[in-house]
Amino acid sequence: MSISNHIRSFRAGISTLAIFFTILSIGSTHAAAPLPTWARHGMVVSAHPLASQAGLDVLKAGGNAVDAAVATAFALGVVEGYSSGIGGGSFTLLHLANRWETIVVDGREEAPGAARSDMYVDNTTGKVNPELSTTGILAGAVPGHLAALNLLLERYGSMTLGQVLEPAILLADSGFELSQTYARSLALQKDKLKRFPSTFAVFFHPDSTPLGLGERLYQHDLAQTYRILADEGDKAFYRGEIARRIVAAMKADSGLITMHDLTAYKPRLRKPVVGSYRGYSIYSMPPPSSGGVHLIQMLNILERFDLKYLGLNSSETIHLEAEAMKRAFADRAVFMGDPAFTSVPVTGLTSKTYADSLARNISRFRTSKITGPGNPWAFVPEGTPTLPSISTEAGDSSAEKDRHTTHLSVVDRWGNLVAMTATINTGFGSGYVIPGTGILLNNEMDDFSSAPGVENFFGLVGSDANAIAPHKRPLSSMTPTLVFYQGRPFMVVGSPGGPRIITTVLEVISNVIDHGLDIQEAIDAPRAHHQWKPDKLFLEDGIPFDVQENLFRYGHDVSTGGNWSGAQCILIDLETGLLYGGTDSRQEGAAKGY
Ligand code: GLY
Repeated sequence: MSISNHIRSFRAGISTLAIFFTILSIGSTHAAAPLPTWARHGMVVSAHPLASQAGLDVLKAGGNAVDAAVATAFALGVVEGYSSGIGGGSFTLLHLANRWETIVVDGREEAPGAARSDMYVDNTTGKVNPELSTTGILAGAVPGHLAALNLLLERYGSMTLGQVLEPAILLADSGFELSQTYARSLALQKDKLKRFPSTFAVFFHPDSTPLGLGERLYQHDLAQTYRILADEGDKAFYRGEIARRIVAAMKADSGLITMHDLTAYKPRLRKPVVGSYRGYSIYSMPPPSSGGVHLIQMLNILERFDLKYLGLNSSETIHLEAEAMKRAFADRAVFMGDPAFTSVPVTGLTSKTYADSLARNISRFRTSKITGPGNPWAFVPEGTPTLPSISTEAGDSSAEKDRHTTHLSVVDRWGNLVAMTATINTGFGSGYVIPGTGILLNNEMDDFSSAPGVENFFGLVGSDANAIAPHKRPLSSMTPTLVFYQGRPFMVVGSPGGPRIITTVLEVISNVIDHGLDIQEAIDAPRAHHQWKPDKLFLEDGIPFDVQENLFRYGHDVSTGGNWSGAQCILIDLETGLLYGGTDSRQEGAAKGY
């Protein structure tokens, strides 16, 4: 619903009744957040209670944060398999308390060796066919999640792959009841899923209806795959029995992933991007995610304004957030891509002086027209190369269409922290289950820019920096983040939500630091999102009508309704050390501690 329509009707005096009902319907969704869950020793927060329980059991059995995170991730692949799994990828930030070091593990998927920049362009029309990059085997990139989990466990865990897989194997074999979110996602995606016999066999009744709320989902093939991994390690997936099944499926159904692609896949250890916000240190995900860089860029811009004084979700605060978001997303469209293939001006984008230059052009009460990116290269000490060019098509396809991607946060009793965001991209990924394995293949190829300026599923546009190339990693928005205060861990943050991940993480952090909310309130507060293209300010239910109206008066094209993302976070009380977990009321997750 567009607020401009409401306001025009109001002025014409013909739709007061509609406005009356709009006002009545606003404000109820997040009126009061429950209290956060608290614990003394360790905590796991994830998007499903059974997955959080798997992680908590590992912590209680003496495992560390890495053991618990990996167990939770495998369990999520079973009970929330439409969002993440070993057919997809992940990013992890791990803070090791004893070394005071933050490590980044990049388990992002990689384009197959046979991928080409124009592989989704239709030969006859010359236009991108979005169906090809979102649905079916050709949408799948080489999965990296399992390799990343294995690396984390081998280097930093204390348990074996077999031990941390145990809860997930049990859940896959004994089944679990579908939650409302799962049943809704399945119903939403049924047409995509029905097309693939191997997928139909897992999620549908023989009469072609999908499993519904409260029905039990059994995944015996996935349990068997997990058992093979427990026995043989991740090499079974990247060169052994499971690899052979993946390659056989590719041959049978005209996919691109080869045995060489699988054996060549390596998770990468990276350095976090680091910034600061009002005295707090922000550690987040570097490229090939855009998340950390633009989170820090937006925080740098907002630091120039007194958001505490302006108030939580006031017209001015949302306006300033939207202006910061627009500028960051305009830069994202041009500069961001896999750093192995393109030079990304990370230092410039995250510099305080670049943020100053952007903030100076923000009017307090008027939206600005952003026609293109800024010039972060000017703030990179080495020099100022010429800017790549970009043509863009404005569109309106960025609304949150389904649930996808997942985040989990863990703190253990030694003070180790894990923030992990994992995905198979859109709900149920490509929709293609690799026959005989129970593995849902991702559709992460859609996170590339299929052609300059053409929108992907999330309405995001990109440039050559994110064009498809063999063995390149697609640009992501995933933003697993750790916040410290004077060297002490303070927050573990992250969320699903496509591009709305970055703005959700921004708002959760600001809600705590600027507005003093507890972690549950900070998560549940209504959200705003702007991603430059389309030039629309999206507001969740719960933003009052007078605020919507003010934002319209400031010049924003306001679009209201619905909700998005699903933050799963932990806050550590700096005085007492107590752990407070917040799980998003928009989902059915759980914070569990001891
Ligand atoms: N697949 C969503 C993301 O990585 O941003």
